Parts: sequence; C-alpha cells; structure tokens
Amino acid sequence: MEMKIALVPGDGIGPDIVREAVRVLDRVASVYGHSISYRTIDAGGVSIDKYGIPLTDDALESAKEADAVLLGAVGGPKWDSCPGNKRPERALLGLRSGLGLFCNFRPAAIYPELSDASPLKKEIISDGVDLLVVRELTGGIYFGEKGRNDDGTEAFDMMRYSKQEIERISRKAFESARKRRGHVTLVDKANVLETSRLWRETVSALAAKEYSDVELDFMYVDNASMQLVRNPRAFDVILTENMFGDILSDEASMITGSIGMLASASLREDRFGMYEPIHGSAPDIAGQNIANPIATILSAGMMLRYSFSLDKEADAIDSAVRSFLSDGYRTKDIASGGEWVGTDEAGKIIEGRIS
Ligand code: IPM
Ligand code: MG
Repeated sequence: MEMKIALVPGDGIGPDIVREAVRVLDRVASVYGHSISYRTIDAGGVSIDKYGIPLTDDALESAKEADAVLLGAVGGPKWDSCPGNKRPERALLGLRSGLGLFCNFRPAAIYPELSDASPLKKEIISDGVDLLVVRELTGGIYFGEKGRNDDGTEAFDMMRYSKQEIERISRKAFESARKRRGHVTLVDKANVLETSRLWRETVSALAAKEYSDVELDFMYVDNASMQLVRNPRAFDVILTENMFGDILSDEASMITGSIGMLASASLREDRFGMYEPIHGSAPDIAGQNIANPIATILSAGMMLRYSFSLDKEADAIDSAVRSFLSDGYRTKDIASGGEWVGTDEAGKIIEGRIS
C-alpha cells in the first residue's frame, strides 16, 4: 500500500518522539512491503516562531492532502504570554476543526507490566483497567461563540450542540462498544445543562432504535470523575462532550500510571485521521533523549489500523511494544528509579522487534 503521511512534530519533545515513530513505521513498511511518503508540517510554537501564527493555511492544506496525520505535541512556556488566539494550542484546535475530526478516541488501559505505576491501590486495579473515552472534538464550549464585554470585565463562552453532532459521535461510541464489552456510559451534566439534556434525549433515542444490544447508562460528570478513581473497572466506553472529555481523559490516563504510553486517534466519517500521544510537549526534557516515544509509536499503530485497515501491521507494533516491556526495558518515566534506555534506543529496540 502507498501511504501519504503528514508529520507534525510540533514543540518540546514532539520532534524526539515523532522521529522514533517514523523509525518504526519505516520498518513496518519494509517488512510488510508498503511504501510511505512523509511531509513535515510546522504547527504550534514552531510555526509562531517562523510565521507569527500557530497554524498557517498552507500547513492546514498540506495536512488535508495527506491520508493521515501523525502529531507529536504542541506548546511550551516560551509561548505562554501569546494572546489566546495565537497560542500554540490553537494549532491543535485549528487542525481538529479544519480537518473535521469530530471523534476522539482515547483508550486508557493498564499494562500488567506497569501496574505498579498506577497511583491507585492494588485492590482497585487488580482486575485491570481498560476503558475508552470517546470525546466529541469539534463542538461544544471549545468552539462556541466567545467574547468579552466592552470594558473587558465580563466574558462568556457558549456551549452549543446540535442533535446531528451528538448522533454522529454517539454512533462511533456504540460501534466501539460492540467491539469491546458492549457498554456505553454517557457522561454529562443533565441536572444543570440544557445541552446535556439534549445529549441524553438524543443518545437514548439512538440507542433504542439502532443499538439495543449495547448497554447504555448515564452518569453526571462530577460523579464520573469520582467513580473513575473508585472503580475504574465499571467503565467500558465513556461517551462525552468536548470539555468533559478533555478533563476525564486526563484523569483516565493518570490512573493507568503510564501517560507516556497512551495513544489517541481523532477521526471523521472517512478513513482520514490524526493520531497523537495523549501526553504534552514536556519542554523541560526536550532534546535530551529521555522522552518516552511509546505513546507516539502506538499512535502510529492506531493510524495503520484506523486509516489504512492494516490490522496485522498494527498488531506487529503493539506486540513489539509489549515485548520491549516484558523483556524489562523501560524509559526513564516508567523506570521507577531503575535502569532505563533513551528515546532513540527505545525506538531502535522496538523497531528491531517488528516482524
Ligand atoms: C488535549 C489538550 C487540548 C484540549 C489543548 C492543548 C487545547 O488538552 O488534547 O486534551 O484541550 O483539547
Ligand atoms: Mg487535555
């Protein structure tokens, strides 16, 4: 297969970890007889430095021309004083909305090899944690009208959702649940917010009509944040709106104790997708060869699976990572003070296990 991949290394450790994911992808291509062409795109702080804005039209156009995008991370203290619409994070939002990526999958699972890294007590995670946050990504308060009054002493951000926006993301959640444990929890704030009441109504109607085989329940977001640390095993698929998904997915990733290992996919109705690690740009350790490249390598695996339907190849990446871990290799963030390998060595060891 021929694959056109846009690389957005971004800022901080972004370039370090994207480099290793490319190493592994190239190996997959040579073992399985595919050809990959890459195009590197500036977005985030690096684009602010070069062009004065976080995402240029050219950058967005290049991303659109690719079959899929692999992103490292954007942002850093260097750009913290930029005004709201010129911060590096705008690049992410611009890519998500410009590419129409309304569906964000954020799986959070505990690797048995790393179960000691979870901050939760053993008895809470003894049965493992394996959940998927399905976050709506191009609507809600992130993209609603926002502004200030004339003298700047009042501000507002509008949360708005249409039935159609809710339905399309809900379908993704129900379909994922069918391939998992068949259980969707809609997380909302329906005791307070009108948008949440529309979510409940719409999701219930859709479930009754098309997904009666999937178990559906509802939880207020405050309670969900509590249940996640009390009994994370109670969740299979969490379906939720943009901002709640932002918050809960950080919490979910933390309970696995290995945020450096978690990948994500942002998708739309066709095969195009943007794939990125869940962690941030960690500017304090950039360029030092100590970042964990695994989340990005696994994101590349998700890309092969979702955008190219290359399940065998994606499985090869997953098992190479598993074998890296089970042979006792660790990167600094997951070494618990023990021995560890650098970013490039980790990439090379995983590359060597692709077969
Ligand atoms: C995330 C991040 C982004 C978000 C920021 C960087 C804009 O926190 O991907 O979760 O809020 O969506
Ligand atoms: Mg976030």
